[in-house]
Amino acid sequence: MSGPNGMLYGGDEIGALVFDPGHHSLRVGYAQEDTPKADIPAVVGVGPATHVPEPEEKVPDGNVTQTGSKAGSELRHYIDVTELHVPRPGMEIQTYMKDGQVDNWDLFEKMLDYCYSKVIRSPPEHHPALFTEAVWSSRSGREKLAELLFEKYQAPAFFLAKNAVLAAFANGRSTALVVDAGASQTSAVPVIDGYALTSAAVRSPVGGDHLAAQAKAMLASMHIQMLPIYSIQSKEVIRERERARYTLKSLPAGLTQSWQQYMLKKQYEDFCHCVAQVSESAYDERTAAAVPGVHYEFPGGYHQDFGPERFKLTECLFEPTLGAAHLACSAAGACDADARGALWGGVVACGGGAALSGWAERLGRELASRAPSAHRLKVCAAPAPLERRCAAWIGGSILASIGSFQQMWISSQEFDESGKGQLERKCP
Ligand SMILES: Nc1ncnc2c1ncn2[C@@H]1O[C@H](COP(=O)(O)OP(=O)(O)OP(=O)(O)O)[C@@H](O)[C@H]1O
Ligand SMILES: [Mg+2]
Repeated sequence: MSGPNGMLYGGDEIGALVFDPGHHSLRVGYAQEDTPKADIPAVVGVGPATHVPEPEEKVPDGNVTQTGSKAGSELRHYIDVTELHVPRPGMEIQTYMKDGQVDNWDLFEKMLDYCYSKVIRSPPEHHPALFTEAVWSSRSGREKLAELLFEKYQAPAFFLAKNAVLAAFANGRSTALVVDAGASQTSAVPVIDGYALTSAAVRSPVGGDHLAAQAKAMLASMHIQMLPIYSIQSKEVIRERERARYTLKSLPAGLTQSWQQYMLKKQYEDFCHCVAQVSESAYDERTAAAVPGVHYEFPGGYHQDFGPERFKLTECLFEPTLGAAHLACSAAGACDADARGALWGGVVACGGGAALSGWAERLGRELASRAPSAHRLKVCAAPAPLERRCAAWIGGSILASIGSFQQMWISSQEFDESGKGQLERKCP
C-alpha cells in the first residue's frame, strides 16, 4: 500500500510506530504487534551525572577522566525503571504530562530520543508515527507535536488519533461508550462511527493516583508503615502481624523529596495491584468479610491478610458523583437520544483501572441499574489486564496496519507544502 507521496508505509515494508502517552506511562511499539514493545514510566529523572569510572578511563596518574564536562556540572536525564530506581543524590523526578497532554516539551523530547535510540533502535526518519491523544487535547499541543515529529525527527508520516476511538477499535467497535480509568483521571467518551463526540465527553480526577493516595491513607490509619524498599538492607522472617525486624541500608545523602515520593507511590500502587478488589455492588462489610483475604508482605517484612479493606479501598472509584458509572451516564445523556441505544450496547471498559479485579463487573452492574431499561446494555472489556490497560495502543496498532488507512497519514511532503492546517483536516 503506498501513501500520498508514493512511499510505502504500512505492512511489513516500513514499520509504523504507535506512541500512546499517558500520565502513568508511555506505551510505544510497532504497529501490527499485539502489545507495545515498551511501557515506560511517564517521568524523567533530572540530576547531576553520577559517573561510574570504567577501568580504561583511568589516566596514568590514577585520576578519573570525565567524558564531556566535569562531573556534577551537567544535568543528565534518567529514563525508564532501571535508571529511575537507582538512588541518586540530587535527582529530581519530573513529569512532562499535564491535564492529559504533553506540557514540558524539552522533557518529552528526551523521552522520544530514548524511545528511538533504546527501544526501537532505528532512526526516526524510517518510521511513520501514529500518536494517540485525549479528546480535549489543545490545538497548540497537537501542532507542536506534529512539528516536532516532522522537523526534529524527520518522520516520513504522522497521524494523531483520539485514544477513545482507538480503544473502541481495539474492542472491535467503531461505535462505543468508552470508559477509561487512567492514572490521573477517569473519563467517558462517546464514539460514533469512528469519531469521538468531544462535546459529550466527561471526566473526573478519580483515577489510579487517587486510589494510591487512598491506600496510603488507609495503611496509615491501620498503623502499617510503608518503608521505602530501597532503604532495607535485610529483614527477618516474622510471624503474621508481628512487628517487623529489619536493618536499614546507609543511603547516599541528598536524595530528593520528589524521588522519595515517586518511589513510595510505586509501592502504594503495587499494594493496590496485589490487594485491591472492586466489590460487585456497593460496599457491604458483611459480604466483603465472607470473601477470603489476600496476603501482602511489606518491604520491611511485616505481613498480614487483608480482608474487607480490599473492597472498601476501591469504593472511591464508584463514588456517586465522580465515579465511572456516573461519568458513563452523563456522557450518554449528552448524546442524541437515537444514538444512545448503540452506546449502551457497547460500553468499552479500558485503562489501568479497568485492570483491577471486579472493576468492569461493577461498572456493568451500576449501569444496569442506572441506564434506561429500554436499551440493551453490554460492557466489553478485553480478557487480559494488559490488553485493557493498553486498549488505546492496541487500537492504534490495528489502525496503522490496515490497508485503507495508509492514505490517511499526513506525509512529510504534505506537511511541508500545506503546514499545520493539514492536522485539522486529516486528524479532526
Ligand atoms: N494490573 C493492574 N491492576 C490494577 N491497576 C493497575 C494495573 N496496572 C496499572 N494499574 C493502575 O492503572 C493506572 C495507569 O493506568 P493507565 O496506564 O491507563 O494510565 P495512563 O493512560 O498512563 O494515565 P492517564 O490516562 O491518566 O493519562 C495506574 O494508576 C496504575 O497503578
Ligand atoms: Mg490514559
